[in-house]
Parts: sequence; C-alpha cells; structure tokens
Amino acid sequence: MILRVLLLVALISVTLARKAPNILILVADDMGYGDLGCYGNTTVRTPNMDSIAADGIKLTQHLTAASTCTPSRAALLTGRYPVRTGMAPQGIMRVNLWPYSRSGLPESEWHMGLHRDNDGDNKHHPLNQGFNYFYGLIGTNLDDFGHEYRVITMIRPHWYGQLISVWGVTTIALWCLMKFGYFRVTTFLALFLLWTAPIYFTYFLMDNMELFCSVLYRNYDLVEQPIRLAGLSQRFVHEGLEFMRNATDTGEPFLLVMSWVHMHVAIKTAKQFQGKSPLGRYGDGMEELDWSVGEIMKGLKDAGVEDNTLVYFTSDNGGKSHGAVDGGIRVPGMVKWPGHIRPGSVTDEPTFQMDVVPLISHVTGVALPTDRKYDGKNMMPLLTGEITQSPHEFMFHYCGNKLHAVRYRPGSGSRTWKYVTHEPQLLPGKSTCRFICSCTNAVTLTTPKLYDVTSDPGETSPIDAQSETYTDISELIQKAVIDHKSSLDPVESQFSWFKLLPQIRWQPCCNGSFPFNCDCQDPKFS
Ligand SMILES: *[C@@H]1O[C@H](CO)[C@@H](O)[C@H](O)[C@H]1NC(C)=O
Ligand SMILES: *[C@@H]1O[C@H](CO)[C@@H](O)[C@H](O)[C@H]1NC(C)=O
Ligand SMILES: *[C@@H]1O[C@H](CO)[C@@H](O)[C@H](O)[C@H]1NC(C)=O
Repeated sequence: MILRVLLLVALISVTLARKAPNILILVADDMGYGDLGCYGNTTVRTPNMDSIAADGIKLTQHLTAASTCTPSRAALLTGRYPVRTGMAPQGIMRVNLWPYSRSGLPESEWHMGLHRDNDGDNKHHPLNQGFNYFYGLIGTNLDDFGHEYRVITMIRPHWYGQLISVWGVTTIALWCLMKFGYFRVTTFLALFLLWTAPIYFTYFLMDNMELFCSVLYRNYDLVEQPIRLAGLSQRFVHEGLEFMRNATDTGEPFLLVMSWVHMHVAIKTAKQFQGKSPLGRYGDGMEELDWSVGEIMKGLKDAGVEDNTLVYFTSDNGGKSHGAVDGGIRVPGMVKWPGHIRPGSVTDEPTFQMDVVPLISHVTGVALPTDRKYDGKNMMPLLTGEITQSPHEFMFHYCGNKLHAVRYRPGSGSRTWKYVTHEPQLLPGKSTCRFICSCTNAVTLTTPKLYDVTSDPGETSPIDAQSETYTDISELIQKAVIDHKSSLDPVESQFSWFKLLPQIRWQPCCNGSFPFNCDCQDPKFS
C-alpha cells in the first residue's frame, strides 16, 4: 500500500514537472516597436519576429521601466522598478558602462555586472544569480566597438578639444606662477606630472573603450577580447540551440534568455547579411536579427518542444531614449504559447515588461519570494482573453531615479491617461535632444500635462488644466504617487561614482599584459 502511494506521488510529480512549460525570452536591444512588420513597418522584412505575434498575442502598449538598457534590463529580470533594486541612475551616467566596475544587480536579485568587492569575486555574475550557463557580454555593446564612432564624442562632440584646453590652460598657469617666482622648476615639474597623469588617463580611458569594455564570457571564462561583432549573432544562435538540445535531452523544463546586441550600435552583421536590405546597415542588422529569431524558433520545433514553450519577444527600450516619453519606453511585446494563447490576438491594454517575472512564476508554478514588493503583475489572464483590462491601474514612468510621468488605466471605460510632470529638453525646433535626453536637465512642468493616450498617443493635445476631468484625474494620480513613494525602501545605489568607475586593477587582458596584446578569439568558434 505504502509503495503504491509513493509511486502515485512520484507519477504525479513527474506529470507536474512535465507540465511546466519551457520559457524562451528573446530580447532585442534598442529596437523601437515601429521597426517590425507586425507593428506596421513596410520597409524592413521581419517575417520570423512577426510570426511570434501571428502565433500568439501582440501587445501594442508594452512598456519598459526605463529608456536606457541597464535599468530597464534590471526591471525585466527582477519584475521590480529599478528604484527598488538600486539600479536607477541618479546622474548623467545612465548605464553601467565599464564591465570591471563595482556596479551590478545585487545578488539578492538577478544578474548584471561582474565583480563587486574584489577582482574575481563574480558576485554580480549571472551564474551567481540563478543561471546555469552563460555566454555573452558582461556590459553593453558600444559605438566604439565598431571603430567608427566614439561614445564620448557623441555625448560631448568637442571633448578632445576641451580636455586639451583644460590641460593647456592649467599648464600655462603653473608655468607663469613658476616664472613669477612662486615656486621652483622642480615643483613646477612635479605639479605638471601630477596634473598630466589623470588627464592622460581620462583621455586613454575614453579613447580606448573597446579595450576596457569589449569582453565576451562563457560562464566564468573570458573567451574573447575584443568581441568580434560580425558573426556574433550566429554564435549566440549556436550556443542557444546547443543549450536547448542539452536541456531537452535531460527532459527538464528550461528557461533560455536570448539577448542579442542588435540593434544597438555598433551594428555589424555576418557577410551573408551585409548590403542585403533596402535600409542599409540598420536594415541588414534587422534582417540578421530576424534570421536569428527564426533559427531559435526552428530549434524549438526540431527539439519537439514548440507546443510546450512559452515564447516572449521584446526589446530592452525604445528607439529613442527619451526618459518617460513613449518613444523611449514603448517596445514590441509578443507572447506565444500554443494551446493557451489564441493565435493572432492583439491587446491595446497597457502592459509592463516587468510583468514577465510574475508571468513565469504563474505558468511554472514556482512561487515568488514574499519578502519584497513586485511591480509586475501576472498578465496571463489578459493574454488568454480571460480578462480584457490591464492588470495595472497606475504605472510609474521614471527617468533615472526621478518620476517623470504616470500612466493611469481606470477600472472602467476604455481610456488610458498619461500624467506628465517632466519633459525632455529638446533641441530648438526638433523632437530630439542632444545625445540621449538627459534626465537631470529635463524641464519640470509647473502645471503637469494630462493626455488621453488612447486617442492621442503622440501626446499632442493636453487636456485643459481647468477642466473637471483634469482635476479629478490628477488628484487620483497624486494620491497614487504618494502611495507608491511610501512603498519604496532605501537601497544602496549601484550608480554612485564609487560603484561605476572602472577598477583598473581588475581589468583583464586575455593574451598579454594590459594594455598590450589583449586580443583573443573564442576558441570554440575560431
Ligand atoms: C521601418 O523601420 C525603419 C527602421 O527603423 C525605418 O527607417 C522606417 O521608416 C520604418 N518604415 C515604416 C513604414 O514605418
Ligand atoms: C551542452 O552539453 C555539453 C556536454 O555536457 C557541454 O560540454 C556544453 O557546454 C553544453 N552546452 C551548453 C550551451 O549548455
Ligand atoms: C596570443 O598572441 C599571439 C601573438 O600576438 C598570437 O600568435 C596568438 O595566436 C594569440 N593567442 C590567442 C589565444 O589568441
């Protein structure tokens, strides 16, 4: 009798385990929703990405928690606003730029970054935060990796001149002081060297971002430096397919996150995609990304797990990094899960990228920790059509660590409102800013603007601030903001200069001694 019960229990647990679907998360970089065929683009060919929407649901109002990669990815992985995890930028640096810095997602959350206190401690490494296998970049892809542009001159076009001027003026001033007898030649030389060293170091650092940042890891091993961007998508696909085959061989459900560097600049594609699209290099990148997605989807089918896999496609932020403006935070969102989500469905209800963590928890039956607040909500009932309204009433849109807008989806009716308290400082007569619209120099509106984004998605006609609608809705929103702010606990920021600055002592050099000969290629593919 006892044996039978045990057997039954064993059988049940096997069936339950079988039932848990695989999770496949596909993340593009910096791709706006308007780039995709299924979102209305007619110039770029994206049949494979489009097919996810055709086989599942397309989210037309899918929003990220931030308009730059580090905070938005932190939110995607944790299901929490970046202000809760220390991942909200507080100043001009809005991404965790140097892989060898102390900054990274706290171990209590998920991955991002590498070391925390000491060289080699790997405290922020993905394998220390729940993943079993890792192949990819520890930091971000940068313009500098393409050898055509430099990040620094995009932020400050006259940077070299400014640095040399500061250095020159100070040197002349020191020289004059020496001439007038304030100090001796030896003192002058010592001060000159003391002053020149940090200037030269700053120049060297900013002029060699590729040397400092372009590193590719397989698990804990640095396997490539600098990263060969052309062909990287193909290698990602190879690793992804191998991981999937390995996982399906064991029969255990898997979670695979495919996070491509496309469409972040520098955009480099493999030979077979160069010059193939009608849209130049950007289009070539889109087509290569689309091919990669197609290969992974084909891999699911070949492994026989297509029907038991939930696929989610998104981009880490929009095409424009406009803080809380929809161009920066509205992204493609498509979910496919055969037998659960009706093919070809669409919802215009607002959803958050942060909803994915609660969604995974729901479909796998793995409960979320109860010791913290989750901002994402399980969107499964909306995806299946069981409910027709967003699970979110209020959505808070941050630029860095400052709240710039709030979205409000009332419990009835069909409208969504957006209440804007700060606007980006645009270039005169343009809809763009210098570089990526700083959060710190945003314009604070004396009277916040309210838009009906259902009928006015372009936010062109604010609601009359004297109207009853304005008063009623802004009151509700202000109350929600107070509640939201009171739910935030103090947290150590990962964006202090102490955390962000590169730790030169940790800087590896795979085949030589830094900064010479730091050059090697992933042996698995070379
Ligand atoms: C399609 O996307 C490309 C790349 O972002 C863009 O240049 C083009 O204007 C878009 N076309 C349409 C019709 O939206
Ligand atoms: C797949 O399994 C093989 C054999 O165990 C292992 O060497 C390889 O690293 C695994 N690859 C991935 C991507 O998990
Ligand atoms: C290391 O550098 C040497 C000399 O430049 C080169 O011949 C060798 O192939 C490099 N090794 C690797 C693993 O890339």
